[in-house]
Amino acid sequence: MARKVILDCDPGIDDAMALCLALFDPRLEVMAVTAVGGNVTPAQATRNVQAIVEQLDPPRWPRLGAASPPDNGLPVDGRNLHGSDGLGGADFDVAELHHVHPSEKVICDQVRGAPPGSVSIIALGPLTNVARAFQRDPELPGLVGELIMMGGTVAGPGNITPTAEFNIYCDPPAARAVFRSPSTKTLIPLDATNRIVLNFDLLNKLPAPSTKVGNILHRILPPAFRGYRQRFGLEGIHVHDSVALMASIHPELFTIEEMAGDVETAGELTLGMTVFDRRRVPKWRRNIGVAQHLRQREVVDAILRGIREAAAHAG
Ligand code: BDR
Ligand code: CA
Repeated sequence: MARKVILDCDPGIDDAMALCLALFDPRLEVMAVTAVGGNVTPAQATRNVQAIVEQLDPPRWPRLGAASPPDNGLPVDGRNLHGSDGLGGADFDVAELHHVHPSEKVICDQVRGAPPGSVSIIALGPLTNVARAFQRDPELPGLVGELIMMGGTVAGPGNITPTAEFNIYCDPPAARAVFRSPSTKTLIPLDATNRIVLNFDLLNKLPAPSTKVGNILHRILPPAFRGYRQRFGLEGIHVHDSVALMASIHPELFTIEEMAGDVETAGELTLGMTVFDRRRVPKWRRNIGVAQHLRQREVVDAILRGIREAAAHAG
């Protein structure tokens, strides 16, 4: 039976790729796609979610959710890597901008509208919406099946400050609230996602631009390769959010360790850092599964296969 999921995302090139993979995967039933500000403003993230879903036009449309600004505003954005519109400048048309409910309401409605534990959340951006949904409905954490989050770092450096990963840094109080919530959580940190690098060869393996998935990926991926080369001198790209999605579709490819984790919300140098109690005798209670290791080759294969299959399903 397909797993019911809500995708919460801030498209973002790797978010958009994850949407292409998720919306046609027979193992997932995407109930809702909710936008959150992060890589781009909340308004642009909402527009991008609508644009991508509209371009892909899946047989069963998910509910859509609109992003609103985090309480303290966005301290950064990802436009230097994802382009001014978040999608490498593809600037997809949106035929009709729907009036959509706030993302946190959509999350609450979807989880409440299904049997307890049957809907999981895959969070691919800052945790603003998830924290708000949990605040709006305090019983919600116990009703969500699994919360899979792309974010944070355990042993390696951050990617937005020396210590912080982008998604967590965008809204540290929200991330802390979610980390401390009594939900079943799995974190896919940079330690895992940085192990996957897709090289230029990917562009030769993409489905034809005449397909819906091919059209999107041919428009958003070349600018991503340019961005990674210019910013990092890398001859390849990371696709953090697609890797996190794979943890939901192919959990057997990931090693999950139960850890005790929290989020720094005040440090001058460490704001937004994910902190884990790794002392010989930990004092904190274990509260989160963390994937630091994955089967590299097989995850890459699963992503490439997923792209091909999505294109075949979507037409
Ligand atoms: C995360 O930050 C964003 O730029 C990506 O979309 C991903 O979710 C990686 O740190
Ligand atoms: Ca993202």
